[in-house]
Amino acid sequence: MSCDLKKIPLPPAWKQKAEVKSVDVAPGKGTREGTECQQLLASTSRLLSPAPCLLGPEGQSCFLLWFPRTGFAIRGPAQARAVLRLVLGVPHVCLSCLGTPLLAHTLWLATSVLAALGMLAEPHFKRRPGVWKMLMAAMCVALLSGLQAQDLPRQVSIILLGATGDLARKYLWQGLFHLYLEEVGKGHHFRFHGTALTSTEQGQEVIAKVLESLSCPGDMASGHCAELKAQFQQLSEYRRLKTPEDYLALSKDIEAQVEHEGLRETGRIFYLSVPPFAYVDIARNINSSCRPGPGAWLRVVLEKPFGHDLHSAQQLATELGSFFQEEEMYRVDHYLGKQVVAQILPFRDQNRAALDGLWNRHHVERVEIVMKETLDAEGRTSFYEEYGVIRDVLQNHLTEVLTLVAMELPVNVSSPESVLQHKLQAFQALRSLQRHSAVLGQYQAYSGQVRRELQKPDSFHSLTPTFAGILVHIDNLRWEGVPFILMSGKALDERVSYVRILFKNQAFCVQSEKHWVAAQSRCLPRQIIFYIGHGELGSPAVLVSRNLFQPALPSASWKEVEGRPGLHLFGLPLSDYYAYSPVREQDAYSLLISHIFHCRKDSFVTTENLLASWVFWTPLLDSLAHEVPRFYPGGAENGQLLDFEFSGGHLSFSQPLPEQLVPGPDSAPLPSDFQVLRAKYRESPLISAWPEELIARLAGDIEAAAVRAVRRFGKFHLALSGGSSPVALFQQLATGHYSFPWAHTHLWLVDERCVPLWDPESNFQGLQTHLLQHVRVPHYNVHPMPVHRRQRLCAEEDQGAQAYAEEISALVTNGSFDLVLLGMGTDGHTASLFPQSPAGLDGEQLVVLTTSPSSPHRRMSLSLPLINRARKVAVLVMGRMKREIAMLVSRVGRDPKKWPISGVLPDSGQLVWYMDYDAFLG
Ligand code: BG6
Repeated sequence: MSCDLKKIPLPPAWKQKAEVKSVDVAPGKGTREGTECQQLLASTSRLLSPAPCLLGPEGQSCFLLWFPRTGFAIRGPAQARAVLRLVLGVPHVCLSCLGTPLLAHTLWLATSVLAALGMLAEPHFKRRPGVWKMLMAAMCVALLSGLQAQDLPRQVSIILLGATGDLARKYLWQGLFHLYLEEVGKGHHFRFHGTALTSTEQGQEVIAKVLESLSCPGDMASGHCAELKAQFQQLSEYRRLKTPEDYLALSKDIEAQVEHEGLRETGRIFYLSVPPFAYVDIARNINSSCRPGPGAWLRVVLEKPFGHDLHSAQQLATELGSFFQEEEMYRVDHYLGKQVVAQILPFRDQNRAALDGLWNRHHVERVEIVMKETLDAEGRTSFYEEYGVIRDVLQNHLTEVLTLVAMELPVNVSSPESVLQHKLQAFQALRSLQRHSAVLGQYQAYSGQVRRELQKPDSFHSLTPTFAGILVHIDNLRWEGVPFILMSGKALDERVSYVRILFKNQAFCVQSEKHWVAAQSRCLPRQIIFYIGHGELGSPAVLVSRNLFQPALPSASWKEVEGRPGLHLFGLPLSDYYAYSPVREQDAYSLLISHIFHCRKDSFVTTENLLASWVFWTPLLDSLAHEVPRFYPGGAENGQLLDFEFSGGHLSFSQPLPEQLVPGPDSAPLPSDFQVLRAKYRESPLISAWPEELIARLAGDIEAAAVRAVRRFGKFHLALSGGSSPVALFQQLATGHYSFPWAHTHLWLVDERCVPLWDPESNFQGLQTHLLQHVRVPHYNVHPMPVHRRQRLCAEEDQGAQAYAEEISALVTNGSFDLVLLGMGTDGHTASLFPQSPAGLDGEQLVVLTTSPSSPHRRMSLSLPLINRARKVAVLVMGRMKREIAMLVSRVGRDPKKWPISGVLPDSGQLVWYMDYDAFLG
């Protein structure tokens, strides 16, 4: 009875959109095909060919709109939503939020008519009067049912799973009560079902206590409060929710109660305050047995963690996506419910005039996004040991805040779709993090707590960071070059969270400092602080330096902070700021629960944004997996131990490690115990050292070669390999070599993957990220390999290899590069010349297309004869993984077919091997 929309030939105008978005109306999701609908289908399908197609989740109130040539049918509001998406391209339509159900139905109807009109051009349509009749009848039915439904009072049921747990007891029940206070009397009836796995008796006991402790806002009269609280208690129940039957029973009970009270069900909210391993089972049960009937919406609220890395987050998202539509899911990040965080976009919007010129790299010195905590992880180590501070706080809370500060401001900040879309764009502009973008710490008591709580042996030492500082850069015109510092830690000296935007001081003040006036002097620090909470101020606030501008904040909900003589914040007395705090402080969960009810999707984490965040964080987490964090004592005793600083894109602790943390005498040798080793390898000079020294030495040698070449010939032709080994070299050249003659250097690629040049796998992209964007090479001196021509990748007939060869012949005298930098693969390959593949090993061709055993398979490479024409070839080999091949190649003769690297021997130039100790000594 269902069909695959993807297989249906859609009219040409719809085709493109339908292909992309048809997933949203995939058939079979929660199908409860109503008999009415089936009857209609049965009676019409005899007349219609091809048979009409039943789509989507709701099966009872059935409206079929059939297009004879396409066989496409629309039925019910869910399909209307889908059509809206298809036709208007609106991604997150939430019909129930557009107003009354009548409006929703009318919209559905209008959409259907819109779709029908679109099809009028179909010649066959006119020849089928039966279709017209059916269309008209269905429209009438829909309109009538819309009108009928409109008359009944509406009810929303809220089902809280994990209702006896910590979070629910501390925040969620209070949030639900707050929602009730806000909405009661506005036309909605509510029912609250607290559920858990606990027995009914025990659960009821816990819930009764929680309900008793609920509080009203301070300004509500106590009598009124008591009355509303009693109502809320009456509307709340506890029940055990464990088996599929329990879910079915809950659904039936809701339906019966709604009917009994003469109400109409508007929607159901399921709030999952449960560990993530329980999500999938619960989701399955909700979907199969507890969806509300047609015309009512479903919202499912989920709490973090949403995965552990990109892969697990993807997996969870796919599983949840098989039960729920994107618009039905609300992933909570409670930081988005903090009043000050929720105010960032409105603040930017309401102060556009002042901020437009300031909110950019020309004026912002740096942005700090900070969450400091005094508590440690005791009692939570089973969770914390698996997650650590980056996954627990930075990947979600601080990243969400970062995107709110960094994103382009949508024209309409109250449009959830635009906000979410702009947020996604901000993610896409984040520069990839490197190992050196982070500093990590761990409070000293942590490992002991883990040993105790997780019954680990005495020898166990955890590497989980409890403190992290991260340097983030954003590669777009607004933010290029502005450091965003993210920092969070447990067991620190104070509890405070804030975002601080510090502006550059571009003024010179002639008058003596003692005459500077806060509101006027451009020489005093200028900053905007979104003070999220706690700290010396003790409450959330928005602070703007008086020498910047007087901000506008909604006066009904924000008031000026009263003066606090003696209080200094970020180096200035409080009186130097315009400071506003909320008139009524509200807990994050109350705000979010209200936003769930009002369908404010922008206060939640969409699947797309969640995955974008994991794409950003996962590589860093992988690269830090074995990093030993710096230990800190905790609290005020930390002193300056965790202070860090950045230069050239690297973060490092400001203080060297204190003596007691240096390993003892029998520990591994230190770099200084070795000297740079000079020897021979395959009859050529070998330079061996610890990685840092080796890279420094190679960078120095390249610079010396460049200076020599420019002095003699006026230019330097340097051909560089890609991959991971040279990254550190590129960074070293970018940050430590100010005399490098970049203006006279030509940069060539030794090899390239057949991917577009902007692809992260492209060697050129690596070069761009780690070197080119930091130095000043004239763009006409940069020679990427033409792997992408006429929108094709490495097609023989596009002659990319020949074109590169011609470019080399035209610019490089005798095709003899001044320096070629190579690597050596674990299979003995070099450049993109692979064992057992003859291409490029000999012959006349200067540049060749080759095939790699690993993906991406298609490659372009300089040939061995061209490499051997170079004046100097440097081969960089690093890491323990290269040990075996390094041993092997040291013993074999010249056999490029088996080990292409063994064929490298410049005809008249010099070959030098640069190997770190791991590769050379193992
Ligand atoms: C939670 C983290 O998400 O946020 C905790 O799991 C952290 O580790 C907490 O303590 C901080 O939230 P708040 O609201 O106290 O700043």
